[in-house]
Amino acid sequence: MHLTPQDRLFVLTGAGISAESGLATFRGSGGLWNGHRVEEVATPEAWQANPELVWRFYSQRRRDALAAQPNAAHKALAKLEERLGDRFYLCTQNVDDLHERAGSRRIHHMHGSLFQSRCTRTNEPFPDQSLIPLDMDAIYRELNRATVLLVVGTSGSVYPAAGFVHIANQRHIRTIYVGPEEPLNLDAFDEVILSTATEALPKLIE
Ligand code: APR
Repeated sequence: MHLTPQDRLFVLTGAGISAESGLATFRGSGGLWNGHRVEEVATPEAWQANPELVWRFYSQRRRDALAAQPNAAHKALAKLEERLGDRFYLCTQNVDDLHERAGSRRIHHMHGSLFQSRCTRTNEPFPDQSLIPLDMDAIYRELNRATVLLVVGTSGSVYPAAGFVHIANQRHIRTIYVGPEEPLNLDAFDEVILSTATEALPKLIE
């Protein structure tokens, strides 16, 4: 991925970047968690309908995330941030902290974080009740300054994140997708690298 000294890189990641760290994606393996569809465990409506089930789902993801380690893809992005400084911006849909543990600093969790929300009564962390993306103004500000959009490991099925590539196209900036399967918004990308994140990202940043 050739970047000039003027280029500003906006990176969007999804569950796929943490798959090789052992964290199940939402829609991989048919998108089922213990036989429950992702809509039944990872949406605001699910929280309203069955908070106990959503609680068990996120508690499992928290345990899995604590046991997981950042992989070569997380580390490659942290290295690229070191090189680009404030010309690098990372927006993740993931609620795990593997990007931070790999060394990423300029990062924004647009769907919240497993390790942030805490119940005032039990002091236990709890999933954000509404999946209303956090601080979209800051994200759109960065997207509007970027000259390159790199998207990694997301199925392109959840908005507003799935719409970032369309905004990039309106601004005529370069768009790259990395992931082993074609995302739903495939046609919107200039370049598609059908490969795993740990395979593609270290090469891409070299
Ligand atoms: N490397 C890169 N990408 C991968 C890998 C890998 N090793 N393995 C799987 N993927 C890709 C899959 O091809 C799929 O396109 O990761 C994507 C995961 O898609 P989803 O499970 O839909 O996850 P994501 O796009 O992050 O979901 C978006 O949906 O349920 C909500 O809040 C939840 O943040 C989540 C949002």
